[in-house]
Amino acid sequence: MSTLKVGIIGLGGIARSHCDAIATLDNVEVVAVADLFEEKRSQYMEEYGIPRGYPTHTELLKDDEIDAVAVVLGHQLHHRLTVDACNAGKHVLVEKPMALSLEQCDAMIDAAASNNVKLMVGHTPHFSGILLKMKEILDSGRLGPLMTIVCYSCKNWTYANRAPQYRSRFHGGGMWLTNGVHVVDRLTWLMASQAVSVSASIGTRAHYQAADDTATALIRYKNGLAGVAVSIAYADGPPIMDTQVICVNGTVRIGGGRQPFLQVGQGDEWQDIPYDDPPAVMHYEWKSFVESIEQDIEPPASGEWSRHIMEILFAAESSAISGQDVVLESGLSWTHQRAGVPVTRDHGWI
Ligand SMILES: NC(=O)c1ccc[n+]([C@@H]2O[C@H](COP(=O)([O-])OP(=O)(O)OC[C@H]3O[C@@H](n4cnc5c(N)ncnc54)[C@H](O)[C@@H]3O)[C@@H](O)[C@H]2O)c1
Repeated sequence: MSTLKVGIIGLGGIARSHCDAIATLDNVEVVAVADLFEEKRSQYMEEYGIPRGYPTHTELLKDDEIDAVAVVLGHQLHHRLTVDACNAGKHVLVEKPMALSLEQCDAMIDAAASNNVKLMVGHTPHFSGILLKMKEILDSGRLGPLMTIVCYSCKNWTYANRAPQYRSRFHGGGMWLTNGVHVVDRLTWLMASQAVSVSASIGTRAHYQAADDTATALIRYKNGLAGVAVSIAYADGPPIMDTQVICVNGTVRIGGGRQPFLQVGQGDEWQDIPYDDPPAVMHYEWKSFVESIEQDIEPPASGEWSRHIMEILFAAESSAISGQDVVLESGLSWTHQRAGVPVTRDHGWI
């Protein structure tokens, strides 16, 4: 296939990571950007040598040269812009969280399918060097069967600089949908199973905003295991992005916040594991998206995958409101497998 021509819609902070990643690949180029602000358009066009800029996504979607778009703006717009882009015949890479309801997720999946275009969601952890190495270690089987996983995403919310849409749950804001989505995605991906139920506590503790900043969720999976997702936006403190995967014959963990390390624990020792960083944070994300188009295959972090992640996030919110465990709608139809020997009080297993 010839070079894939891309349009980027929304030039807030993270559009830069998309442009940087595309610049590391030979078979894809940004030919247009769209943003409401002229100064942002000119800045990106000048910096990355992008030929065309449009004030809104509507104009950009009329550009016949564009094969695919990245939807990189506020959460409340993901659904509408993705559906519009699919209907304009463009492949779509939409940022996380996928959308604000399962109905919206379904409409996006349907729009991609009916227009025969690819839909992928920007679940960055799937493409990070350190997590790919962790996944490789788990998949190798050297640590034996999984027992549990605990994932954190805790950071300073930088309230004063946080755009209003991210401080309003009505607009899809709050820590749970903004960063909890990464934790749940990471947890579910490493668990390599589908969630069946969630029990969570979610609330607002540290900020004056109509959106959460505190979430802890226990997620049960079809493989019989449970994992814990912790997503906290505090007012002060360095980031905690730890991931601990505990297996029968050892543990693999990521720690270290901004200077992450990967370690395997076996025989009472922690061993540092080297890993490769990609040439740009979103390099593998864009490589996979382009490959899925070129080869006409399902992209990783597909619409269906991301819908499942949203189902877990929404169920956790319902659980926090009701104080009850919430069974996922899709979980009911699955045959539950059990990991290991069934746990019973009578036999002293718990
Ligand atoms: N994957 C990651 O690691 C990661 C990291 C940061 C942000 N994100 C996600 O990226 C998305 C964008 O976040 P951000 O902070 O970069 O952006 P933002 O919300 O700060 O900015 C969005 C931009 O879109 C423009 N815009 C709004 N409506 C438009 C329209 N109809 N047409 C054209 N332009 C329009 C605005 O003018 C603004 O410049 C969010 O979904 C966020 O959660 C992902």
